[in-house]
Amino acid sequence: MSVLRTKPIQDVIAQSTAEEGEQGRRLRRKLGPFDLMGFGVGIVIGTGIFTLTGLEARDSAGPAVIVSFAVAGVVALLAALCYAELASSVPTAGSAYTYAYATMGEVVAWIIGWDLLLEFALGAAVVARGWSGYLAELFGLPTAWFGEEGSVVNVGAIAIVALLGLVATVGIQQSARITNVLVVVKVAICVFIVAAGLFFITADNLTPFVPPTQEPPAGESGLAQPLTQVLFGLEPSVFGIAGVLSAAAVVFFAYTGFEAVANLGEETRRPGRDLPLGLLGTLGLSAVLYVGVSFVVVGMVPYTEIDRGAPIAAAFNAVGANWAGALVAIAAVAGLTSVILVQLVAIGRIGYAIARDGLIPPKIGEIHPRWGTPYRVTLLMTVLVALLAGFLPLSALADLVSIGALFAFVIVSVAVPLLRRTRPELKRPFRVPLSPVLPVVSALACVYLMLNLSVETWLRFLAWLLLGVVIYAAYGHRRNRLARR
Ligand code: ALA
Repeated sequence: MSVLRTKPIQDVIAQSTAEEGEQGRRLRRKLGPFDLMGFGVGIVIGTGIFTLTGLEARDSAGPAVIVSFAVAGVVALLAALCYAELASSVPTAGSAYTYAYATMGEVVAWIIGWDLLLEFALGAAVVARGWSGYLAELFGLPTAWFGEEGSVVNVGAIAIVALLGLVATVGIQQSARITNVLVVVKVAICVFIVAAGLFFITADNLTPFVPPTQEPPAGESGLAQPLTQVLFGLEPSVFGIAGVLSAAAVVFFAYTGFEAVANLGEETRRPGRDLPLGLLGTLGLSAVLYVGVSFVVVGMVPYTEIDRGAPIAAAFNAVGANWAGALVAIAAVAGLTSVILVQLVAIGRIGYAIARDGLIPPKIGEIHPRWGTPYRVTLLMTVLVALLAGFLPLSALADLVSIGALFAFVIVSVAVPLLRRTRPELKRPFRVPLSPVLPVVSALACVYLMLNLSVETWLRFLAWLLLGVVIYAAYGHRRNRLARR
């Protein structure tokens, strides 16, 4: 069956290491290990830690939101190990899409490509709206143009996406430089928040660590319940151990994006060594910071009083340290800016890889002669993201980004043992320890977190995948079959 046709791994490697691409141009190898970690931390640390900490501590996990962050971090780390093996052995611009093409066939590859589009394009739009809101708060700008209330068009979100889209278009080095500066600012402020917060922690705030199970607030729709509760016919509840785990699924959003690093394989000078370093370094640093930040937030304020919108700044205000508010806002704006930039960089590479295979018109993936970037697809996606962010109130869709990422992680985890079986001789600079046990545990853990997301997230996700299958049947599949004939 042609939809299950796989792409030979030697073709993938030949394509991504060729001196010249199909149109006579290729991506440029400019990046080293620190740039990769910069991109990784750049895309990972963002809205998640600055907002979800409060929301989930207050509504679902209590002080044990620290555990939720740790659990989500371990699951992300398992997936990152799998990414590290594949990225170091097959360093390509398409990451999960290409690994799926090489192991599971064209239709799965297309679905993953479509799913990554959801993760990065929707993710960029969601974060751009958050960015606009923070900026409005920092400078007292009118919410009609920068906020969620009463606005028809979010000018702030459109402006930031347009600006960063241009940076992503003109060069990978320019993008790396800007990302690195933003990352230094946000990481330094996060470290400072943890260090300063430690002085204000009260042990009382940490008890009960796992608040007892309760009924969900009246009026909450059944669609907002985790799918597990519906599947297993459990009484709807919040808090307790189940609450900690469903919070882990939601805060997983904070870790999404690290896999963007795997898309930079064709732009990395020493991919075999540097991609694993970039992927694992990013996750290690983010997980430590997340656990630290969530610890000080729940330690400073009783969980029932944590602010849902701006938990970190409000926690410092609550203990009388009002100076922290501005610092947190600066870290958030710097953080969110780099998240959007790296998401736009990543989506350009994925589009480039898909266009190179002909599943979307190849012209779209063309590399610019001077800038060395896939400029058409990057600009196209910038316009799409700007429109999404400008006109749709998206804050409810963060879970859709997480489910998209988790789905890609399942496929990548499964691809590791598959590729070891089909191509045992392939040079693997980094190997996942204990394969196939660890990749299988990684896949199951990701599925488990997916099941802990809400019923409405699942419905939206399935609708998105269905749309992807229709597009594949109408264009990609037919075109590729014709081309082969
Ligand atoms: N992980 C990124 C964030 O938390 C998307 O904003």
